[in-house]
Amino acid sequence: MPPKITDNSGHIIADNQNIKTAGQDGPALVEDAHFFEKLAHFDRERIPERVVHARGVGAQGVFISDVDFSDYSQASLFKKGKKTPVVMRFSTVLNRPGSPEWLRDPRGFAVKFKTDTGNWDLVGIDFPVFFIRDAIKFPDLIHSNRPDPVTEVQDFVGRFDYFANTPESTSALTYLYSQKYGVPKDLRHIDGFGVHAFRTVNRDGKQYFVKFHFKSQQGVEGLNAEEIAHTDWNYATKDLYGSIQKGNFPQWDLYAQVLTPDEAKSLPYDAFDDTKDWVGVKEIRLGSMILNKIPDNFFQWTEEAAYSPSNMIPGIYASPDKMLQGRIFSYPDAQRYRLGVNYQDLPVNASAVAIHNDQQDGTMSSKTQKGHANYQPTSLWTDEAATVDQVNTGDGAIGTSAPKDSPYATAVYSISGRAQQAAIAPMDDFEQAGRLYRSFSEQEKQALITNLVNDMKGSSYRQASRATLVRDCAYFYKADPDYGTRLADQLGLPAKDVKEVAKSLSSTLG
Ligand code: HEM
Repeated sequence: MPPKITDNSGHIIADNQNIKTAGQDGPALVEDAHFFEKLAHFDRERIPERVVHARGVGAQGVFISDVDFSDYSQASLFKKGKKTPVVMRFSTVLNRPGSPEWLRDPRGFAVKFKTDTGNWDLVGIDFPVFFIRDAIKFPDLIHSNRPDPVTEVQDFVGRFDYFANTPESTSALTYLYSQKYGVPKDLRHIDGFGVHAFRTVNRDGKQYFVKFHFKSQQGVEGLNAEEIAHTDWNYATKDLYGSIQKGNFPQWDLYAQVLTPDEAKSLPYDAFDDTKDWVGVKEIRLGSMILNKIPDNFFQWTEEAAYSPSNMIPGIYASPDKMLQGRIFSYPDAQRYRLGVNYQDLPVNASAVAIHNDQQDGTMSSKTQKGHANYQPTSLWTDEAATVDQVNTGDGAIGTSAPKDSPYATAVYSISGRAQQAAIAPMDDFEQAGRLYRSFSEQEKQALITNLVNDMKGSSYRQASRATLVRDCAYFYKADPDYGTRLADQLGLPAKDVKEVAKSLSSTLG
């Protein structure tokens, strides 16, 4: 017998198909509370979509650690054989919920590790570099890539106009327009890069800088234009869920690149510039992640999921990366707006560790609050019902500070300098883009050029100016003369103009 239908207060509903009316032809009666609640609840089914990465799909699984990484980080999940549950969400960046999954866009690769010391979120993308290196630029980057604010038509005039003054995007754009990375074969065939460097601290308090990335055991493959044209617009979700359903669980290996602070300083570029890949730095395999469960409900496990780079754990901390610093503010801010102040209590976001603190109340407060002492420090710590674990700080007061040598204490490091607003240096915006271009086969180079030309040409009613396109090509020329020349040629621009602009670019630009 199927369960009986009830309203949200538990009353059994006898008739869920006919509203209560005044007689056969009469109007609806206000006393039909179930009918009004049913409509009112439906009217409120939508919440704000994510401001970016709105189209996504979630899955659950487990991370199994294969090595002891404690020489570099005391993070508890990296103990040989340890299993940590994960929830993850794949996404596209610019496009809205329900948009075709084959649109050219970076793929978001967000993993929430539910560790025994709290949640660690690695919120990355499917290639190793980003488009800008300072968080203050992020809203401009996104606006320039979004539909025209007058017509709401998506073209790419804004993208290539913004790029003409943002050469640091040269590498990321080369990834985005390449056949291998721009439109993946499916979500199982992508890697996932944390992109930023993180500060790690080992069991002896020694500090390192580490980049994390996942490599797909399925390999990395993209779709070409012909394949995209014949691809179902929900293809990526169908493939992912179809594979999991068949027991063909996708897997990724997690790797770390580790540098000492001195080694980080000696790189030819700024180690904390997220437009740079740490090319050639040794990778250490930490373990593997397997996705083996389709979540029970899309809204509760994909839409209500809240990933944030601010979710770090003992042993993994923020580096000076100016993008990471900005993201630490932006994600929880967006999530308080999108999901409400108690969003971390939702099942998808809930930590595996019981929550004890005196933050209280607010919309949809539901976690257990007990005891008289809802503040710190307090002498009422013997109150058996208290929700907060008490620690004697040693100076007579009772508080919740951990002892200085505990793994939970903040990583201590020295900082100095003047308050300033200055660009990261040295820059070199082109060397890695050129290296990537030269790694492509002739067929891949041609596909890259064709993909770029199609979007740079603009739309029937809006085009970038010639000067803008010449400057764009000059950046690609600086990456590799063949790259810029071929692009200019296919856009009908004289190569000599591109060369001239490329020559005039200051040496700090590459
Ligand atoms: C300062 C730069 C950035 C800002 C301000 C920013 C901001 C945001 C915001 C507000 C969201 C929506 C969060 C939510 O509502 O749950 C988001 C989602 C996301 N961002 Fe960023 N972002 C930045 C850079 C990056 C970078 C560099 C990466 C990749 C390395 C990245 C990857 C993602 C991913 C994967 C998501 C989707 C997470 C999910 O699946 O829910 N973002 N970002």
